[in-house]
Amino acid sequence: MRNKIVAGNWKMNNDADETEALLNKLKKYNFTNDVIVMVSPSFTNLQKSVINLSDSKIEVIAQNINGSEKGAYTGEVSPSMLKSIGVSRVIIGHSERRDYYNETDDILKKKINNALNNNFNLIFCFGEQIIDRKNKKEFDIINNQLSNTLLEIEKSDWSKIILAYEPVWAIGTGENATADQVQEMHFYIRNWLKINFGTKISEMVPILYGGSVKPNNASKIFSQPDVDGGLIGGASLISNDFIEIINSF
Ligand code: PGA
Repeated sequence: MRNKIVAGNWKMNNDADETEALLNKLKKYNFTNDVIVMVSPSFTNLQKSVINLSDSKIEVIAQNINGSEKGAYTGEVSPSMLKSIGVSRVIIGHSERRDYYNETDDILKKKINNALNNNFNLIFCFGEQIIDRKNKKEFDIINNQLSNTLLEIEKSDWSKIILAYEPVWAIGTGENATADQVQEMHFYIRNWLKINFGTKISEMVPILYGGSVKPNNASKIFSQPDVDGGLIGGASLISNDFIEIINSF
């Protein structure tokens, strides 16, 4: 049985007080299902969040990491810095990082390797643009994004990796992929894992969907056989919506 996971990506939202208020609402809620819940506040709020949630099962994860161990990289954050404040999981490859900060597959591969070498867990995001889908190229794009970054991963490292399929046209647009589109792509991704790393790994790795997941569409998406949860942007900033999504399994 794969873990069920719901992760909130708060992006560049919430100052210190807003972060605390949202965390307090979330941790007060007594989740009855067996879903692993993660939240990803901004760097400035990470340490406070770890302390705030120390008596909760909610995991605090980072939104970014550098591809090097340390050194002259102004404005960047290393795995050991995150580890030293109690964070050991990071989102890598989000389309906003790819599109706005020119993070190429090569850069992402360095980040992935740096994270894994430092015993980090990661949520690796990838997804096609609308033009790719219009041209019926979505599977080629996903194959390239996965093959360019993950083919050389050691089998033993796959236990640290969660994959997140996030079609770019569905992120923050209110237009989610249909449950059928999501399942079709997740099946393709699981098959990619099977071909390249074998059945055991393909059945073990959780694959999340991200892109306009809301309380009214979460349960249909989460009920697909190859969907193991969601990476939630906008709706994770509203405590009641995020809780409803977590309870949608
Ligand atoms: P959204 O964002 O839920 O606001 O579409 C998803 C994401 O960016 O991971």
